[in-house]
Amino acid sequence: MKSILGIGNALTDILAVLPDDTLLRKFHLPRGSMQHVDMETGDKIWSTLKEIGVKYVPGGSAANTITCTSIFGMPSGYIGKIGNDDLGNLFKSTMEQFGVRARMLYGTKSSGRCMVFITGANAERTFADYMGSALEMGPDDLKPEYFEGYDYFHIEGYLVQNQDLIRTAVRMAKDAGCIISIDMASYNVVESNEAFLHSLVDDYVDIVFANETEARAFTKLERREALEELSHHCDIAVVKVGKDGSMVQSGDEYHYIEAWPAATIDATGAGDTYAAGFLYAHSLGMPLRTCGEIGSIIAAKVVEVIGTKIDVPRWRDAKAEIRKLIAAAGK
Ligand SMILES: Nc1ncnc2c1ncn2[C@@H]1O[C@H](COP(=O)(O)OP(=O)(O)OP(=O)(O)O)[C@@H](O)[C@H]1O
Ligand SMILES: [Mg+2]
Repeated sequence: MKSILGIGNALTDILAVLPDDTLLRKFHLPRGSMQHVDMETGDKIWSTLKEIGVKYVPGGSAANTITCTSIFGMPSGYIGKIGNDDLGNLFKSTMEQFGVRARMLYGTKSSGRCMVFITGANAERTFADYMGSALEMGPDDLKPEYFEGYDYFHIEGYLVQNQDLIRTAVRMAKDAGCIISIDMASYNVVESNEAFLHSLVDDYVDIVFANETEARAFTKLERREALEELSHHCDIAVVKVGKDGSMVQSGDEYHYIEAWPAATIDATGAGDTYAAGFLYAHSLGMPLRTCGEIGSIIAAKVVEVIGTKIDVPRWRDAKAEIRKLIAAAGK
């Protein structure tokens, strides 16, 4: 079985369900927005939410993807930076519980966290992120031996803000012989790091995952044309279009893959799990259409649950559906 290493911001979601918008107003957070807060505000918010009752879910985009590849059975590793505190310990031990080889680095600040206010009848989410130690990860933290023995290296786009870190990471990954994939994360990440991202993709990246808005920000083109353009810059380009499915292109080979049927309640984590399914299938040498289909199956499970963790019955269903596809592809 091929192995995968991921790198990302090691963040723990702190989720609180609130009766109304009072706390959003208190902390000046527009409902539905995502804001970065400093340590002082971050601590105030956390202690206020704690009194109401919170749920802790270690995550971050690449960590979610890597947890998922580990559950698929791929030997999976993760690099991220935490603080020397309870939240950091929770992050590390949760990754390890899922079988991930967690190479945690320690920063001077407290562990990064994403405080999520869930309000209103539609369970709308408002985010206050405190990045803490996660932002302290730098090129000097990396060592070539961290990459040795891995076949794939997956980067979450949020890290692209730290260009020196990513440059060092991809060089080490290429030297170790890894296939390199990136999830573009968000259109504002793409917009604010355009030149760097273009050279990164041209020089190092083999597989690009982008949703529609990220693909547009990168290419200034729409869906199909954006995919075509992306595919000229990497081996495999993937553009995801939510419930409308996904498109995959490699050279002249093109596939449109419908979304797998799902009773959607919360789309959080769809992109991260799609990438995990796709990479897992790719590591088994599956055809590109099957890679996209396996990504779609596992993404369809995560949209049926609240949050980013798929429950055991849904994992069982997904694995059974995937086994059938793999058997059919092998015929
Ligand atoms: N409502 C849905 N029903 C079924 N499958 C879905 C649904 N939403 C997303 N998916 C699947 O998940 C894949 C990725 O979702 P999406 O296009 O939303 O990516 P994304 O924007 O990167 O997601 P994220 O917000 O998690 O980063 C889709 O290509 C599709 O296969
Ligand atoms: Mg995404």
